[in-house]
Formats: sequence, C-alpha cells, structure tokens
Amino acid sequence: MTQTKKEIFRADYQPPNYWVRWVDLAFLVEQDHTLVSARILFKRNRAIMDNTLFLDGQHLSLQRLSIDGDEVAVDDLYLTDRGLLLHDLPDQFELRSEVKIYPAENTALEGLYQSGEFFLTQCEAEGFRRITYYPDRPDVLAPFTVTIVADKTRYPVLLSNGNRLAAGDLSHNRHYCKWVDPHPKPSYLFAMVAGDLAYIEDQFTTANNKQIQLRIFTEQRNIDACDYAMQSLKNAMRWDEERFNLVYDLDEYNIVVTDDFNMGAMENKGLNIFNSKYVLAKQNTATDQDFIHVEAVIGHEYFHNWTGNRITCRDWFQLSLKEGLTVFRDQEFTSDQQSRAVKRIEDVRHLRSAQFAEDASPMSHPVRPDSYIEINNFYTLTVYEKGAEVVRMYHTLLGETGFQKGMDLYFKRHDGTAVSCDDFRHAMADANQMDLTQFGLWYSQNGTPVVTAESEYDADEACYRLRFEQHPPDSYRGKTAWQPMHIPIKLALYDDTGRPLKLNRQSDTHIVFELTQKQQSLEIENVSGRPTPSLLQGFSAPVRLKQKLTFEDWAFLAQHDQDAFNRWDAAQQLQQNIILAKYRALQDNETHKTPKLFFDSFRQLLLNEKLDKGLVALAITLPTLQSLIVNMDAVDVAVLHRAKEQLVDEINQHLQVEILSVYHQNHTDEPYQVSARQVAQRSLKNRCLWYLVQSGNKEFYHLCHQQHKNADNYTDTITALTLLAHRQAPGYEDLLADYYNQWQEHPLMINKWLSIQATIPAEDTLDRVRQLMELPVFSLKNPNAVRAVLGAFCAGNLTRFHAPDGCGYAFLADQVLALDTINPQIAARMVSLLNDFRQFHPDLRHQMLSQIKRIHAADKLSANVFEIVDRALQ
Ligand code: PHE
Ligand code: ZN
Repeated sequence: MTQTKKEIFRADYQPPNYWVRWVDLAFLVEQDHTLVSARILFKRNRAIMDNTLFLDGQHLSLQRLSIDGDEVAVDDLYLTDRGLLLHDLPDQFELRSEVKIYPAENTALEGLYQSGEFFLTQCEAEGFRRITYYPDRPDVLAPFTVTIVADKTRYPVLLSNGNRLAAGDLSHNRHYCKWVDPHPKPSYLFAMVAGDLAYIEDQFTTANNKQIQLRIFTEQRNIDACDYAMQSLKNAMRWDEERFNLVYDLDEYNIVVTDDFNMGAMENKGLNIFNSKYVLAKQNTATDQDFIHVEAVIGHEYFHNWTGNRITCRDWFQLSLKEGLTVFRDQEFTSDQQSRAVKRIEDVRHLRSAQFAEDASPMSHPVRPDSYIEINNFYTLTVYEKGAEVVRMYHTLLGETGFQKGMDLYFKRHDGTAVSCDDFRHAMADANQMDLTQFGLWYSQNGTPVVTAESEYDADEACYRLRFEQHPPDSYRGKTAWQPMHIPIKLALYDDTGRPLKLNRQSDTHIVFELTQKQQSLEIENVSGRPTPSLLQGFSAPVRLKQKLTFEDWAFLAQHDQDAFNRWDAAQQLQQNIILAKYRALQDNETHKTPKLFFDSFRQLLLNEKLDKGLVALAITLPTLQSLIVNMDAVDVAVLHRAKEQLVDEINQHLQVEILSVYHQNHTDEPYQVSARQVAQRSLKNRCLWYLVQSGNKEFYHLCHQQHKNADNYTDTITALTLLAHRQAPGYEDLLADYYNQWQEHPLMINKWLSIQATIPAEDTLDRVRQLMELPVFSLKNPNAVRAVLGAFCAGNLTRFHAPDGCGYAFLADQVLALDTINPQIAARMVSLLNDFRQFHPDLRHQMLSQIKRIHAADKLSANVFEIVDRALQ
C-alpha cells in the first residue's frame, strides 16, 4: 500500500507549531492554468518548542518560495507529494510562495476546478492544499485577503469570501477584484469563483438594522429558477434571529450554483457554493419535496455561519460539532416553516433505515470517530443525522429555554475559536447546572443501543410499572466495555378510551424518563385499569426500542396516540408485522391471512379528516424494503418484495373504493402553491394514486395519464410518469421520449428521468441502465448523474440490484473501479452501497463480498475506496 493510506487517530491530536496571523492570496486565472501567489504571516505557538512547520500541498507545481524575503531554492526543500517541511524557522516570519495549478484537469472536484465555463473551489475537508501550501487543518484560523485577476470578457464575475473591497480594470482586457474577510477562518472555509455568471439580488435588514446585500449567481440559462432559494435565504436569516438570536455578520452574502458538486452545498464564509439541485426550483421543474429541500439546505448552509464558521472544529474528528448541530437547526427551521409532525417522521424514517444500517455495518463509528484513513468517508449519516439526534436529546432534556441558555454560553465562551464536541457538551451542562458526564457516551460509543421495555399492572395496588433495560449494540467495537448511556424516554399512558393519564403531581400527561442505568423502573400510582403505553414519543432517543405490544395495542395507538410520531410509528409497526408474517409464510410455502383489524385501522387513518393530511399520507405508506431489511437477517430480497406486494394487493381489494374517493377529494384545481396545506394534500392524493396504479387496473392507468396531462405542477406530473413507467403501463415509453426531448438541455431534469428508469422493477432494467449510461446526457464525471443512475439503481431498485445471479453487484463494482480514477469521493460513496452485505441471505452475501474482494485487490485504489472495502473485509 502507498503512504496515502495512513490511519489517523483522534488521540494523536497535537496543536500546531505555528499559528497564522493573516493570509493574502492573489489568483491569476488563465484558461488552462491558474497562478496562485500567497503571502502568509506565521507566528510560533509558544506552548510548543518546535521550529519546524509542515505545509500541506498536493497537485501543486511550486514556482518559487521565500521566507522573509529570502528566496529558498526549490531543490533545497523537503518536498513530497503530500507537502513540504520547513525547519529552523524564526518565531515570526512571512512566507511567500507561487504555485501553478490546473483546474480544468481536476475531476476530483476538490480544490480549484472547472464547471461548465467557470472556475470554483471546494476546500472542505482538505481541498485547500490543492490551492497553495498551507497548514490545512481546521484549528488554524486567520483573516484572508484575496485578489483575483482574470480576463474581463471570459470571467466578468470574480468572487471570494467576505466583503468586496475594490475592483477595477487592468491592461490586456483584464480586471481584478479584491475581497477581505475580517473573520478569522480555517482554510476549509475559503472559496473563490471566476466566470461569466448571471445573478439575482435582494436585500435583508438585520435585527440591528444593517442592510445585507444578497446575491445568487448562476449560469444565465438558470437565472429564472433562483427566486425560491432567495426567499428561503431571507426566511432563514429571519428565523435564526428570532429563534437563536443570531444575526449575520458581513455586508454581503453570496451563493454560487454549480451542476458539478460532490455534496449538497458548502458553507464557505460569505460565499456558499451549492449543488444546483438545492437551488434551482420552479413550479414546472421542481417537486414539493425539491422545494422543501431547497429551503432546508439554504437554511443549513446559512446556519453554519454561526455553528461551524464563527465557532469551528478543532480537528476533523469533531465534525459533528458543526454538522450535528447545524442539521438540528435546519430540522427545527423546516419544522417551524412546514409541518413539524411530517418533518419528524421523515427524518426518523431516514435515520432508522439508513443510519441504523450504517451503524450495523463495517463502517459503524461513533458520532465522534476515533480514527480515519480518509476524512471524506466520515461525512456520514452517523455524524450528521445521529449527531443531530444527540443535539435533539440535549433539547429534550433541557427544554427550549435551557437549550438556548447552553447555546448562549457556547457562543460566549468559544466565539472565534476551534473547539471540540466536549466543549459543546460542557457549555450545555454548565449553563444548566446539569451533570452531562454520562451523556458524553453518545459521542464515544458506536452502534445503536437496544432498549427493552416491559410493563406490569397491579390492579390491587392501582400501580403500573415500566421496567426498562438497555443493551449494547451488536456492532459495538470500543476498546473498553460498553457502558449504559443516558437515554431520555418521553412517554405517555392512555386509558382504554384513549385519554392520556396524569403521570405526576403536576398532572403532566407526558414525561421524560431518564434511563441512565442498565436496568431501571418507573412506577405510576393511582392507575385504575391497565393503560396502553406510548414510549419514546417523538423518537426521543436514537435507540432500537423493543416492547411486547400486541397487534391490538398497536392498532389502538395508531388510532389514539396524541403524539403524531408515535401514532405514525404504530401504523408502521402493524404494516411491518404483517409484511414479515407474509414473508415467513412465503418461505414456508404457506399463505398468510391479514387480520381484519389491520384493514379497519388502515381505513380509520385513511378517512380521518381531523388529521394532518401529510401525516395520513405517511401513515398509509408501507415501510420501504430498506427499512425492513435493517431489522432482519439472511434476507431473501425477492421474497420480501413479494410479501409486500401481497399486502398492497389486499389493501387494494379491501379499500380501493375509499382510496379512490380520497384521491378525488384531494385532487383539486386550485392554483399551485408550496404551502404546507397543499403539499400535504398532494402527498395524500399521490399516495392514493400509487395504490390504485399498483392494482394494474387499466382504468387507473387512464387516471394517471389524465393527471400527467392536466397537472399545473411538477409534483403531479412526475408522480404520474413514475407510476406509469414503473408499471410499464401502455404509453410510458412515449411519455419518457417526450420528456427527454423537452428537457435534454437541463441536467437536473434529465437526472430525474434517468432515476425513474433505473428504478423500474423489471428483469431488463440493468440493460436499460447500461444503455442510459451511453447517452450524451450521462457522464461519470458528473456526481449528480452518477447518483441518479448508479445510486438510484443500487439503493432504489433492490430487487434488481440484488438479482440472484449477482449481476447487479458486478455492475456496481465495474463502475466503482472506473469512477475511482475520476472522482474517488464519489467512488467511495458508491462502493458503500455494498456495506449492508451482512443483512442478506448467504447466496447474496457471498456474491456481494466477492465483488468487495475484487475491488480490494485492484491496483492503485484511492484511499477513499480502499478504506471502505478494507473495513468490510476485516
Ligand atoms: N459542509 C457541507 C455541509 O454539510 C458539506 C460538504 C462537505 C460539502 C464536504 C462539500 C465537501 O453543509
Ligand atoms: Zn453542514
């Protein structure tokens, strides 16, 4: 193995030998290369007696370097492909360097690269080292000044962080722009952009009456699709002032949109860069979900300005410090703007299927990992989503007021510095005089804890007792023995009429029980009659809860629970139980009969007009195969799929009339709006349409065609098109052809078209996928296209991906090997789709593993892909 595969440990953290006082960069942008000149003032870290300094630098062509004006011959430097080592340095010195870089050849999309005709940067986590020699680590903070020089015709727009200080013309048709960012920042938050971009602009007046200039830059062809993002930005700025008392701190806020991006978006100080997927949205090109995601991601990156930028991470092991907290904040933003219940259900649904799977896989790691080979592999669901759950638990334990007190103290103590997850926890504890020592285990112990609950009712004593026990996760891999964690369990009890009981002297109808020991009981007195418990309301902790409820209990909760999340969850439990019963029956060649109670419960939810329609839509949506698989082992995917289809057929047999009438009731011709009410209504309507079309009945294909033809919005058209295509209903090929002709110049629209086809559950889909990849609209160089085809096929078409002959796995492995030479980050994301191999039937599992081995044995693997496959084989 090459030296690039070194494992880095959290325990080895050392503060830097030198701090940076300021950075002054100059970019001379040419079409085929860019010249980067840097002036950096270094100052010795007096806590450390070491006068050497390692500067990270990769893919740089060093032209010259000087220290305090003395030129150092390049040949005299300790230079490797990782960086350069300086020694015998004075306490303070100015380093000047000049490097040449080649952005047009950069397909990894880290550092400075080209997208269409413009140039842009991506520096998180370690991209800045592809721009200049620098201590590229998050605990080195400095103010930056940046001057960009470029041809005025080709690159009229020149952007960097902070505020624009000066601009003007130069000779040879060149011009320049000078930017100053006064807030000290780590190099990963640096950004610059040069190109011919159009923009829209607006203003925001802050709570302290400052006018902020807001701009969104994009290629001219997309300029009419940025308005929703701009409105979302203003909403986010207002919301952060109102809910968190956080006010923006520069004179301008710029966003640049690109089609070529490895992730969703990036929070560079004052200059966010966005994947076009999370900005561009119009009524006829974006679904309701797309609009909501735009708002959420715009919010997320904006919220980073305080949680991530003003206070940043000491080292990359602390990534969840900024990401878990900022995801929590964006979740709250969406909850306050849209439907809180729907948002919570969707987030937990995602957590329990995808993050729980990660936590049970070879990639399982604590929210604060202990080691990594490639940090880009740790931008994970665990760091982001489980990290957000950890922050939510503080909120549950401390309440909104206590939580905000903790936030205030966190800013007071740490503003302008780089800190750790422990610093955050201490701020929460100290502001509330609460002992959160044990709570710290949420950062250090990997895996999903299991909590079992048992109950006992003593009629004579009128006493109800709940006994909880917590168990280590199977995947726990810490060096010391697993310790019981601090688990907040929000709960309520219902009497047999569905009324919540009073649980304490304050007459609360729900309480937060703090499970801190291995085993612990809760006793409630004066309970006349056995109640039904509703435990872990709102999913108050990221655990697997096991309780012995009967089918009747679940049906009762699905009907009565006042906690929207648990009500939905009860409906899911019923559905899951039935699907699993059918699965077992199919394996034993028996038939399973669904109890009538199931259909009664389903009907009751479907027709309940008092409930939020978004909640109803979710409650009648059957669990995905993925979410079932995480709770199973030795899964036979084909049989599981058939079990689910059987249930769909039965629902149609029993309830088609009701489903059709709910469809019609919610199919209105009101003009389109992205309002919470309309979004909910459309989601319910389209879920009904899904059931109807699954029946294979021609009449409903017709209904679907009608909806496709008459809709005034993209949600309704794309839903209808997807349903017809997935059933391969008459006429679907023509609709797909028309779509292609209409949208072939629009990558985002074509990506949806690609995904629809990659998820057709038909025998020949893999052949179709291969053909799609030959089209000019597809390229392995474009991450969105890769995700739209490969990601959709492997994660969204489980029966085909897990085809018994293993062709799906071999196909993925081929693509991973091809991708790895182009974009290792994306290659690593794709190979991770094999990570849940442990869940499957041995026939499938062995074939998955043999592809993992094949990749592992390949020459010249990137550190990114190597780390994933190597862990899988350990
Ligand atoms: N920090 C970004 C976010 O979560 C994600 C990101 C990571 C983007 C790495 C690019 C590269 O907001
Ligand atoms: Zn983030």
